[in-house]
Amino acid sequence: MRLTYTSDVWWKNAVVYCLDVETFKDGNGDGVGDFRGLTQQIDYLAGLGVTCLWLMPFFPTPNRDDGYDITDFYSIDPRLGTLGDFVEFMRTAHDRGMRVIADLVVNHTSDQHPWFKESRKSKNSPLRDWYVWSDKPEPDDPSKVVFPDKEDSLWEWDNRSKQYYLHSFYKHQPDLNVANPEVRDEITRILGFWMELGLSGFRVDAVPFLIENVDPKLPDPHEFLQDMRAFMTRRKGGSILLGEVNVPYEDLVQYFGDGLGDQVTMCFDFISMQKAWLSLARQNAGPLADALRERPKPPKDGQWAMFLRNHDELTLDKLTDEERQEVFDAFGPEKDMQIFGRGLRRRLPTMLGGDLRRVKMAYSLLFSLPGTPVIFYGEEIGMGENLDEEGRLAVRVPMQWTRDGGFSPAEPVREVPEGSFAPDRVNVADQKRDTASLLRWFQLLIERYRECPELAWGTYTVLDAGHHAVFAHRCDADGATVVVAHNLCDTAVDAELELAGLEGQQLTDLLVDGTLDVSADAKVKLPLEPHGCRWLRASPPEIAPEDAGVMSQ
Ligand code: GLC
Repeated sequence: MRLTYTSDVWWKNAVVYCLDVETFKDGNGDGVGDFRGLTQQIDYLAGLGVTCLWLMPFFPTPNRDDGYDITDFYSIDPRLGTLGDFVEFMRTAHDRGMRVIADLVVNHTSDQHPWFKESRKSKNSPLRDWYVWSDKPEPDDPSKVVFPDKEDSLWEWDNRSKQYYLHSFYKHQPDLNVANPEVRDEITRILGFWMELGLSGFRVDAVPFLIENVDPKLPDPHEFLQDMRAFMTRRKGGSILLGEVNVPYEDLVQYFGDGLGDQVTMCFDFISMQKAWLSLARQNAGPLADALRERPKPPKDGQWAMFLRNHDELTLDKLTDEERQEVFDAFGPEKDMQIFGRGLRRRLPTMLGGDLRRVKMAYSLLFSLPGTPVIFYGEEIGMGENLDEEGRLAVRVPMQWTRDGGFSPAEPVREVPEGSFAPDRVNVADQKRDTASLLRWFQLLIERYRECPELAWGTYTVLDAGHHAVFAHRCDADGATVVVAHNLCDTAVDAELELAGLEGQQLTDLLVDGTLDVSADAKVKLPLEPHGCRWLRASPPEIAPEDAGVMSQ
């Protein structure tokens, strides 16, 4: 396929790296990460192969939800630096060929935001309708409370102005009311402001809540998403929205803009993520295979964003109670590892028992699954969590640069893990020197993933591999094919694949040495080591494998 597509529609095979400036690198020695520190690490990120950075919220905040409670959408949390530092960071990231997107958290503000302070002054406040107020705490559905450890209602009584206000999340996060055109205008202004400073788009927090929890109900809630996207496209053609939309597939397609693709550019695939964990727990490819077979195709130029872990709990809310329990039993049996009754506050390597082979296989799976991979800082070196930190903060520990931490010369904002995942065992510096490290494995995976745009762009087919533990799929684009197989179990197995159309072709291994021949009746036997993984490029005998991906331009 033509590589020129991958620069126009860049998000379709990007490598997205999510980080929190606060915990990435401290540049001024006060124990808190900042833009100066992050900027100094730009070459590390470029060297890893990251093409797009996603910055978690970096705005002024009382920090009661790790920055997802904002008091000013137009500036920088002074602990993290200044607007000047931000612009220098942007310039340096762009110079290294990386795009930057940021969290757009406009479902709610902090209750300390001047808008809310004004709104709650009285029922006659000019900003009263910027939030959702009601005489009755209704409709209420405690099962819809997102953080059941702290909240038991979606409404909070405001004694001063004698009404309830809506909060889909914590009570200190009142919901903005996008039914109000002034609020919509303000959100557009926020988008424009940061795009003017160079952002290529936004990861939109809590999209369904944003458009649904409003008063009065919008006749077409999706019109607002269309308006946002149209505004961004007018200002900067290639800008994107990456949506946090954790709803069943059948409801999800409309967030892309069904058919048209004029709303959210990419949606996280929460369903296949959860099924992937069930598959890992069972050592059985079935759940993941079923999810990907059922998954709707996004509209043209839309894309799925794939992930295994993120900054939140590993949510298992779309599994049945029994399935969730299976994942808990396998990867987080202790109560302290679980959270909100639906998830795990752990990072991937600890859940996989620190088994490097299995960890490497899981990430190989992530980079090869159809969609754009999104990784959370520290995944590339296999960082663990610190369960002594409260709630979801357990996974948001300081980045581990060297054996003594290397995040900050001062007491860090959060404690690093102890034991086998402590910085003296898991850090960037050591792994850079070790060719067998997870860091080097990530670099190889990213290099191959970028060389094989079929993986993210192509038409994918989940294959029957003849063994329940093997997840195998093929991706086809413009006459080129990549075949991938992962062994989810801890014993060696032989997969048997049928590869229609590839009769007599050669399969060249892209991760290790080796080639296989597809038989005249399109069959191939594929040996896989315990937790083994293989990425194979198909090529007719007369064409060099290196040319097979680009032959049909
Ligand atoms: C999203 C974020 C989460 C945050 C919540 C409220 O779910 O991912 O971290 O707490 O929204 O903003």
